[in-house]
Amino acid sequence: MLDKKVSRQKTLRKKKKTLSFNEYKRSLELATEGMVEILDIERLIRLIVYMVVKKARLIHAGLLLYNAEKKSYILSSSRGLRGSVIPKEYIRIQPGEPIIKFFQARRGYLLNKSGAIRVEDLNRFLRNKRLFKKDKPLRELMLEVKDEMVNYEAAAFVPGYFQTKNLLGVLFLGEKNNGEKFKQEELDFFMALARTAVMAIRSAQLYKNIQKIFYGVIKAMALSIEKFDPAFTRPHMDRMFKMGSRMINKLEKRKVELPDMPKELFISSIFLHDIGKQYTPREILHKEGSLTKEEWDMLKRHPIDGAEIFEQIEGLEEVARIIRYHQEKYDGTGYPDGLKAGAIPLGARIAAVLDAFDAMTNSRPYRKKPFSIKDAVKELIKEKGRQFDPELVDVFAEVLLEEGMISFSELKEIYPDISLGFLFDSLISR
Ligand SMILES: [Fe+2]
Ligand SMILES: [Fe+2]
Repeated sequence: MLDKKVSRQKTLRKKKKTLSFNEYKRSLELATEGMVEILDIERLIRLIVYMVVKKARLIHAGLLLYNAEKKSYILSSSRGLRGSVIPKEYIRIQPGEPIIKFFQARRGYLLNKSGAIRVEDLNRFLRNKRLFKKDKPLRELMLEVKDEMVNYEAAAFVPGYFQTKNLLGVLFLGEKNNGEKFKQEELDFFMALARTAVMAIRSAQLYKNIQKIFYGVIKAMALSIEKFDPAFTRPHMDRMFKMGSRMINKLEKRKVELPDMPKELFISSIFLHDIGKQYTPREILHKEGSLTKEEWDMLKRHPIDGAEIFEQIEGLEEVARIIRYHQEKYDGTGYPDGLKAGAIPLGARIAAVLDAFDAMTNSRPYRKKPFSIKDAVKELIKEKGRQFDPELVDVFAEVLLEEGMISFSELKEIYPDISLGFLFDSLISR
């Protein structure tokens, strides 16, 4: 009877263990499913190591990842259950060092069919003297790998290969919290996890590179306008970039719904609003007197010409819209399409306010003496609801106040019906 009870308890314990293994396996599987969707590399790496430590209940774990710029493997993330965390970037390993050499030559498969290695596999192999008589360098390498396992307090090393040959990372696993050894099925699973993790990291890196190329293209476009009109258009665009980013940050803080695109791209759209001016004859842009009807018609083409460039690129339709509509007026009397109020994209409504302010406060070929900031703001306030989105004029006044470009008393003087909430908001954010 007693025997039966003990055996039942054993079965239950066994069942519980199996269940817990399946449970973390399922969690890891779920995590890997979403991995390819995460494009923030840092976050992705942290998630992988967190999942491994937490779900497999390890004392600690870390991920060494190949850094192409530094040509070495760097500890990209490490985490422990009991605080035994090796600081990130503390370990840097050159490709010629034992652990890397070992896995680059795919030696892990000599010790375990999974390709990963456990301390006990290594010890078993090292005891086989006959085998090493033939291959002394291999024995040396294995002894060095063993030393590294001791250094990192690792119970297992799991390599992450990209396209079977390139070693992109090594996951090192500390001992399990309950002191148990890693089972073969667990090792197989960690290998699969390392493979998926490396693929996900690789695609996140590719995405980052594409982003770099894209912002390089934007820089190149800015350069082309600089070559065309270094005196007026380029400095104007630079100021629009600066004020545009402040405005967008402010709107973000106020929880205003921004278009569904990366913030950098949104700011870049405002920066590039006058890109079409490179097709306007320079004599028109630099003309000191007033423009003839034909000249006006030519100048008025610049939003359409600029938008056309971005209409060629799939996925950048909103950038094209911001550029096309930046000369529209809130009351519908602007160009090219006479759009009204909310029908004008938010980015274009922001650009309109900043554009007018910048034109007033800087000298132009047709007007040498610029307006003072106070007079320019007065003009913006006068045009609230006519030329400009009234709320954006308020937000812009707030930005100017915060930047110290206008004083509180100056603003109060030209804007007496300013709301108290707005004043309070500006004061506390200083
Ligand atoms: Fe413009
Ligand atoms: Fe402009």
